[in-house]
Amino acid sequence: MSVVTLTINDKLVSAQAGQSLLSAIKDQGIDIPTLCCLEGLTDWGGCRLCMVEVVGSPRLVASCVTPVAEGMVIQTESQRLTAYRKMIVELLLSERNHICASCVMNGGCELQSVAAKLGVDHVRYDYLCPDLPMDASHERNVMDPNRCILCTRCVRVCDQVEGAHTLDVMGRGIQQRVIAGLNQAWGTSRSCTKCGKCVQVCPTGALFKKGATAAEMEKQHDFLIWILDGREKKIWRW
Ligand code: FES
Repeated sequence: MSVVTLTINDKLVSAQAGQSLLSAIKDQGIDIPTLCCLEGLTDWGGCRLCMVEVVGSPRLVASCVTPVAEGMVIQTESQRLTAYRKMIVELLLSERNHICASCVMNGGCELQSVAAKLGVDHVRYDYLCPDLPMDASHERNVMDPNRCILCTRCVRVCDQVEGAHTLDVMGRGIQQRVIAGLNQAWGTSRSCTKCGKCVQVCPTGALFKKGATAAEMEKQHDFLIWILDGREKKIWRW
């Protein structure tokens, strides 16, 4: 595989042709916020938190879905990027009902942690307060779309790792939500293997285990899962 040379934060680095910018940035030990991206799953480019500046281009690009290119000059931190990232987190917080005090993932939520890291201490937008139907029909898990950020990790892990393709996304705008089957009660799905991977990859409390305490959910969130990513076994850790 050929090698390309690019500049990340004023440092000349090399990367594999075809590699995503995000993975090249991570290879340099640089931490940038992400929510939808997860190693072992295809990239989705939905949350836009991983945006970086490409010098010479007016547009910000989502680094997880942008391949490296010869001669690229990238900045991963700037006032403009921080402002955009904060705005994205605020929009996510205002779009659904992220009431941490009553959420089982309080303390183990990736959205909460990204918000804290970015210094989001208030939301400038009106809360939309949706009232989407919860699905507690599953034997083990509950789906609460009111806490979902539509990162589609659960949909992708169900399809690409478990091979069940039980979950999907339906609707638009504020009504958009993850569904089981063709919008049937999750508990009646015959394709669901009850593996729980969807719950473990959820970055918020949108999918949670029935009866689990906050501590158990945190432990589960930190659970090690072995997956086959096509070439080698990898460990996922949250
Ligand atoms: Fe790149 Fe979400 S991590 S768009």
